[in-house]
Amino acid sequence: MAERRIAVFGAGYIGLVTGACLAELGHHVTVRDINPERVRILRAGDVPIHEPGLGDMIARNKERLTFTEDLTEAVNGAEIAYVCVDTPPSASGDADLSRVWAVVRSLADAGDLKAVVMKSTVPVGTGARARALLDEIGLSHVGYVSNPEFTAEGRAIQDFMAPDRIVIGQDNDTAGALVTALHTGINAPVATMDVKSAEMVKLAANALLATKISFANEIATLCENTGANVTEVLQAVGMDHRLGAHFLRPGIGWGGSCFPKDSEALRQMASNTGFHPQLLTAVINVNNIQKRRAVQHLKDELGDLAGKRIALLGMAFKPGTDDMREAPSTVLASRLLAEGAQVRSWDPLARPAAGEPWDSATRYPTPMQALGGADAAVLVTEWPELAEIDWTEAHRVMRTPVMFDGRNLLDPARLREMGFRYTSVGRP
Ligand code: UGA
Repeated sequence: MAERRIAVFGAGYIGLVTGACLAELGHHVTVRDINPERVRILRAGDVPIHEPGLGDMIARNKERLTFTEDLTEAVNGAEIAYVCVDTPPSASGDADLSRVWAVVRSLADAGDLKAVVMKSTVPVGTGARARALLDEIGLSHVGYVSNPEFTAEGRAIQDFMAPDRIVIGQDNDTAGALVTALHTGINAPVATMDVKSAEMVKLAANALLATKISFANEIATLCENTGANVTEVLQAVGMDHRLGAHFLRPGIGWGGSCFPKDSEALRQMASNTGFHPQLLTAVINVNNIQKRRAVQHLKDELGDLAGKRIALLGMAFKPGTDDMREAPSTVLASRLLAEGAQVRSWDPLARPAAGEPWDSATRYPTPMQALGGADAAVLVTEWPELAEIDWTEAHRVMRTPVMFDGRNLLDPARLREMGFRYTSVGRP
């Protein structure tokens, strides 16, 4: 395999995983970030995000993997430039691409450059605009490749090194072949297509995953209303290979840095073309309703929530990460505080950003402390340690044993036997 010299722009979640995995594959990688503190941390051998296996991978590839703030150092000798910067929603709902354009512009002096690879999630049509910009800055000979990522937090290394597929959207065959060859050593089918189609694959894949979850959540509500058990129902539904068993777990709503942002961006993109997507809109609405159901349930159980102590168990948007972006826990905490409740929270990893609602919530180092004197508990994130705690003791320390298990983690019969007023999602 030809070893290539690669510059990765952005030392965020995607940039670090991409840079580390490309180094692991044998390439020479320079990761550039404009945040000096982030670069300092990485140079000191620490990893600023929580991702299993990433620290070890960075450490064992340190000969081939460097971090810098300096643009010249990054572009010097680089044959391939990866764009891994964030594309947050702007006020209009469209993705803000200013960081993407800044990176593309900064490549003007990259004399050895052969291809620019887009890893950031971007609207369809971004590649065409990037192509025009590359031409404008004298890089007409440089190919453009859309190579979306399908890595989930907590399993990103595995998803990169052993993916279900590699998508290559190319504006010329040479650049596409060059980027495909970077993945030599990875055993996965390669789907080669035009740039716009590759951009759409990413958004469509995330939208379909979100659709499956919203569907599971709606079936769960129907199960509640009819006495069926959603776990049994969806397990059997998922055994049909045409439907698939994954992403059919009902819960407290989907969150994270991708599904909410990408589904909104896709909806916005559709409306920019004059099309109102009915299904996607419903998928988003079902999720918003799902995130509020726990609060309604607590009101049904406790009446007025003013002055009530509510323990939120889990804050991260899913277990195995410290990420709180678009976490259902934040929506819940805001609504509970707005109702006048006191919020007591626990999470083993998550670090909420300063500001409301978390400034007004009290954080405890153990689930049991958060449960102390609580009028109700909501299990928000299915951290495995929550299955292990002594629930008899939890029952003892709570003021009222009301429990809403938003992730169907616990056994209803067992909890009810202990005296809990226990409810979960779609299970009798
Ligand atoms: C997601 C996708 O799974 C990745 O394929 C994609 O690359 C990534 O977004 C991205 O666009 O970068 P991630 O956001 O890390 O990855 O998390 P997921 O594990 O997909 O979970 C998303 C949300 O759905 C979480 O809140 C989770 O609790 C929820 N979920 C997931 C359910 O409620 N039910 C399920 O069955 C599965």
